[in-house]
Amino acid sequence: MSFPIDRMMASLRRTGLSRFFERFAEQFADEHLKDLVVDAAGSGRVIEVNDRRLVNFASDSFLGLDQDLRVQNAVAQGARDWGTHNGASRAFSSVRANIVAEQKLAAWLGTEATLIYPSVTLANLGAIPGLVGKQDVVVFDEFAHNSMQEGIKIARSNGTSSTRFRHNDACDLERVLRNARPYRFALIAVDGVYSMGGDLPPLADLASVARENDAVLYVDDAHGTGVLGECGRGTVLDALGSYENLLIVGSLSKAFSCAGAFIGCPAAMCHQLKIRSNSYVFGGPVPPPYLEAVCTVVDILMSDEYLCLRAALDRNLQRLIAGTAEIGLTVIGGQTPIVSVLIGDDGDTLRAGRFLFDHGFYVQSVLFPAVPYRAGVLRIQVNANHTIDQIDGLLEVLCALSRQFHLPVTMDAHRVAA
Ligand SMILES: Cc1ncc(COP(=O)(O)O)c(C=O)c1O
Repeated sequence: MSFPIDRMMASLRRTGLSRFFERFAEQFADEHLKDLVVDAAGSGRVIEVNDRRLVNFASDSFLGLDQDLRVQNAVAQGARDWGTHNGASRAFSSVRANIVAEQKLAAWLGTEATLIYPSVTLANLGAIPGLVGKQDVVVFDEFAHNSMQEGIKIARSNGTSSTRFRHNDACDLERVLRNARPYRFALIAVDGVYSMGGDLPPLADLASVARENDAVLYVDDAHGTGVLGECGRGTVLDALGSYENLLIVGSLSKAFSCAGAFIGCPAAMCHQLKIRSNSYVFGGPVPPPYLEAVCTVVDILMSDEYLCLRAALDRNLQRLIAGTAEIGLTVIGGQTPIVSVLIGDDGDTLRAGRFLFDHGFYVQSVLFPAVPYRAGVLRIQVNANHTIDQIDGLLEVLCALSRQFHLPVTMDAHRVAA
């Protein structure tokens, strides 16, 4: 007998999305690496996959803090102090570790307050619809992260209108806002770092358009948090000099190497977010052991050690960028520790990723829709605890790859990729 769930699964398999992924898995069965399972992660950036040791160039732990004993010990101590979970939504109660971590984050960041969410995705899904109503409009960069776009869909279903503007184009933003009038307020949603290409938004221009058009800037700085700007405060303060008229979203999982996210803003706005973000009210919080570790990471970022970690990261980044230029590869980004090497065709991008894998290096092959169509990239994430030998080893294999694959060297990278 067939149950409705069997017919539901059969019907899902017939949709365009599922057929696309099944065809993709069959067509690139030996190349796609999407089912890769890491069996062990040792110290440094070496991982084990199927009894093979690989250097991992696909980790967001840009400062290598996931391997830092102080951060690991803080998680262990937090579990001893609080247990593994506090078992209730913060709409009922918070553990002290939560309040301490929020105050510590605010003092480090320089905002009046912060509110911690379980992830950046849940922050965006909760905060964006919570901030706007039927008389408002949300305007977003066409390449804004998927989690913001999903949050905007919820806002739209509540009656808020929304519209997009051309990537990193402040003039287009102004045009779009003009056309969207009349509205009460506009929320402008952008990434602080575009995670596939590693490029930055023109924040000063966007902020001035926002001020002149009854709009508030909402910056998802997931990839800038903990690794860009002074003391790792991210992209916003360096670009604008203040947090006036904006909300900043930061990640506690990427460079922070813990878990969760935060929104930094005035205390009165934090209070509104606590009441109005459904993901905060109806969902569980970050487990307390990670909150202890967040405090440890803030201490590291506020000490001179941050400068040493950044120097190690910059040394690796500069060496990789200089090496790719020597080989003649087209590189997108490079202002951040995300270095994307343009490959182009989907199949070639997957085969290039497999070639690196077979030679002992793991990087992500990123395809449409994460990047524009036929602008596939090898996304290399550089960490402070990669060794010079590992960077040079990767460059050697990239050199061999460029000879074998005839990679694009003359295309205008900004034209083809986000
Ligand atoms: C800009 C941006 N926002 C949100 C996310 C998702 O973050 P999380 O894993 O905390 O949900 C990412 C992940 O890479 C991101 O780049």
